[in-house]
Amino acid sequence: MARIAVVAGDGIGPEVVAQARKVIDAVLPGVTATEYDLGAARYHRTGEVLPDSVLTELAGHDAILLGAVGDPTVPPGVLERGLLLKLRFAFDQYVNLRPSRLWPGTAGPLANVKPGEVDLVVVREGTEGLYAGAGGSLHRDTPAEVATEESLNTRHGVERVIRDAFTRAARRERRRVTLVHKTNVLTHAGSLWARAFEAVAAEHPDVTTEYQHVDAAAMFLVTQPQRYDVVVTDNLFGDILTDIAAAVTGGIGLAASGCINPEGRYPSMFEPVHGSAPDIAGKGVADPVAAVLSAALLLEQLGHPDAAVRVTEAVATELSQRTPGVPLRTEEVGDRLAGYATA
Ligand code: NAD
Ligand code: IPM
Ligand code: MN
Repeated sequence: MARIAVVAGDGIGPEVVAQARKVIDAVLPGVTATEYDLGAARYHRTGEVLPDSVLTELAGHDAILLGAVGDPTVPPGVLERGLLLKLRFAFDQYVNLRPSRLWPGTAGPLANVKPGEVDLVVVREGTEGLYAGAGGSLHRDTPAEVATEESLNTRHGVERVIRDAFTRAARRERRRVTLVHKTNVLTHAGSLWARAFEAVAAEHPDVTTEYQHVDAAAMFLVTQPQRYDVVVTDNLFGDILTDIAAAVTGGIGLAASGCINPEGRYPSMFEPVHGSAPDIAGKGVADPVAAVLSAALLLEQLGHPDAAVRVTEAVATELSQRTPGVPLRTEEVGDRLAGYATA
């Protein structure tokens, strides 16, 4: 039976992860889950962010379920880079998979888009780009201060994530991949992405392709999200576009993700797209659906597609019964989802 590691993390992380675990236990009894105490509390207590010994232990699991990382009491970047990005990089989770759909029975914010019409997936590169950490600063706190961040793009890294996007598209109904970049300004990295895209596209004559600049894609995601099937893009563009995609499909509380190492050499990690939401943490009002749908992606990855479908259908039932504007309670939603998934 599968062994998963759980990193609940900060803020609403533990609140929503508890519901995801409840649902996993309901549909797949016998999964062993080991909790790892990482995040702001441990950092304050011990100064540790992600000790090497813990990284080694995590590597021995079949998958990782993560809540959220980041806290206002910790300087920006310490936990985000030192814990979350370190995991994505150390475990070579180069496919950051972020599906968005406008669930039947729910109302998105767009008057021109009907439920069921949006079903897209962003394949966000997860280990390179501006996230690689290259750059530096000079003359700090002087009028001459300069800071640079460099975007790292390797042919290997770009081509493999594009290949993953095409493979996914080939299995979907519309078989369409949109490359999103900014080739008109980022001429070095943009050219690499465009050439790699063209090369991989040639291997998939059955898949339709298009290219959009990221600014236009941001606009079309709001005006016509229905037009997208699979979107492949770099790390930072993907970060931003997936919050937009979440917003137009019912909100950040529903957006799930998988940080995937497709070869299975390292564990993949499943986490909501949202963060630790300090503004609502501790109130018991966070929507656990994003975490629960991330658990569905985890179950699928671990080879339990039936369990994943039961979880997804439970979410569909839950969402079809919500009344807009009525506040939710995190635990009650978790209880209902576990019930629907086992009914
Ligand atoms: P956030 O996603 O935490 O919150 C943005 C807004 O969305 C807030 O108003 C919040 O209340 C709301 N929200 C988020 N999740 C929700 C849920 N499940 N139900 C209802 N409302 C929800 O983004 P932020 O405020 O920019 O960042 C807060 C912290 O989280 C920062 O430290 C940031 O670095 C970190 N962060 C972590 C991750 C991650 O762990 N993957 C992702 C994004 C941000
Ligand atoms: C996300 C988050 C992270 C990212 C941060 C917290 C490092 O915003 O998972 O979307 O930028 O990838
Ligand atoms: Mn983000």
